[in-house]
Amino acid sequence: MRIIRKYGNDILASDKFKDARKQIHHYKSNVASHSVLTAISGLRICHALRKFGIKVDMRRVVRTALLHDLGMVGRDDLYRNSYECCLRHPVNSANISKQIWKGIDEKSVAAIKSHMWPLSLHVPKTREAFVLCMADKAASIKDLIKKTL
Ligand SMILES: [Fe+2]
Ligand SMILES: [Fe+2]
Repeated sequence: MRIIRKYGNDILASDKFKDARKQIHHYKSNVASHSVLTAISGLRICHALRKFGIKVDMRRVVRTALLHDLGMVGRDDLYRNSYECCLRHPVNSANISKQIWKGIDEKSVAAIKSHMWPLSLHVPKTREAFVLCMADKAASIKDLIKKTL
């Protein structure tokens, strides 16, 4: 958690992230805890890749992980159904991220937009985007296992 605070404290402290604690996600989780779990999973993938000499920008992975699902906050008012939410929340998350992370670059915006691949047509194009995409899936599986165990 120390490295997540180091890289993402401003995001964790933002009003939108606080709201994310109240948004149910994957039945028994919420958007905030899922996002922290995604950051933890992302860091684990980064460390594993480093053993193979593949360097990934961990700061970018942590920050995009914390931001990637903020477009889900208030989902019942924003989207007509789960399918629409699934398709549209990555772009909304990217737009919200621009308000929280002043100076966010295109690589990070693109990573957030592509985190639902292959369910969405935005394909991850950088290492960090691919790590975010995989970390989100790993965290989602953990959330769902929590539900059934
Ligand atoms: Fe998502
Ligand atoms: Fe997610």
